[in-house]
Amino acid sequence: MSNVSPKRVLLFGASGTIGGAVLAQLLVAGHETTCITRSGFSGEGARIVQADITDRASIAQVLAETRFDAVISCIASRSGVPDDAWAIDYAANSAILKEAQAAGVGQFVLLSAICVQKPQLAFQQAKLAFEAELQASGLTWSIIRPTAFFKSLSGQVARVAKGKPFLLFGNGELTRCKPISDADLSRFIVSALDDPAKHNRILPIGGPGPAISPKEQGEMLFGILGKEPRYRSITPRLMDLAIAALSLAGRFSKRAAAKAEYARIGRYYATESMLVWDTQRQVYDADATPEFGEDTLEAHYSNLLALRRNQP
Ligand SMILES: NC(=O)c1ccc[n+]([C@@H]2O[C@H](COP(=O)([O-])OP(=O)(O)OC[C@H]3O[C@@H](n4cnc5c(N)ncnc54)[C@H](OP(=O)(O)O)[C@@H]3O)[C@@H](O)[C@H]2O)c1
Repeated sequence: MSNVSPKRVLLFGASGTIGGAVLAQLLVAGHETTCITRSGFSGEGARIVQADITDRASIAQVLAETRFDAVISCIASRSGVPDDAWAIDYAANSAILKEAQAAGVGQFVLLSAICVQKPQLAFQQAKLAFEAELQASGLTWSIIRPTAFFKSLSGQVARVAKGKPFLLFGNGELTRCKPISDADLSRFIVSALDDPAKHNRILPIGGPGPAISPKEQGEMLFGILGKEPRYRSITPRLMDLAIAALSLAGRFSKRAAAKAEYARIGRYYATESMLVWDTQRQVYDADATPEFGEDTLEAHYSNLLALRRNQP
């Protein structure tokens, strides 16, 4: 990161997983960074401003006080339920974009998700609606659509370490992804500020390959532990039944409706790969999914298991 020209960057979502990693990379690269957060976040080396991203006037005020070269948005609905997704992934981003335009900001880098290429869920529709606005905005834009994050593939580390089997959907080969670490992804995002090849482009991105299945993730974990792999399979049909029952209950209860959406989200990730979708051939294409960075999921699992072993 030596040939970059320092920019004044306004970062949204710095208290989140990728936003936090992006902040660290912005500072390493020497960018003058202001973070907008909603509560008690402290990011050393950056200016922190508390503001409500759902209130356009408070975004406008921040943009009126300082001239920024670029906005990076890593905000995302914490729940993924429709109301929240439309309020954050769409409306908050849209308000930020409009205020950035009005203030003369020239560039907008958006953290999106590769799953929007086959949209079936409310949060994917909300992200796509904003992506379209950004592309039509006239600003220099980069839409970054990563594959799976390491954290999303680490939920079973503790149970496997405790001797329990690895849970699979179907035969464990229904999906594949090229996991990317927070650090590698954030380097990619920050590089979009200065790399013309990343301007005005939708950028699907994975970590170092090859693409791996859930079964191979399990093999990796058991391999590090020196144990024979043990699996328990859940049929996606079971999830369909749960979705049907919760959707029915959701007609009468908001809580059940939210649970139905979580189940739909779970089913989506259990059955759809996080790779580039080839619309002509109607298949996911691992070879067409770009790779970036060096961090491997295997090294991440080893670190997590070592941390567990060293816990008192
Ligand atoms: N998980 C994966 O494997 C994966 C893969 C590809 C793409 N993605 C996409 O990556 C994106 C970011 O992921 P992440 O894991 O970094 O997200 P995260 O950790 O959940 O962070 C979300 C950020 O948005 C902010 N935010 C949410 N609701 C807000 C509200 N009402 N008001 C103010 N701020 C709000 C959060 O602030 P607070 O801290 O104040 O809540 C936080 O800074 C998502 O769009 C996701 O779809 C994820």
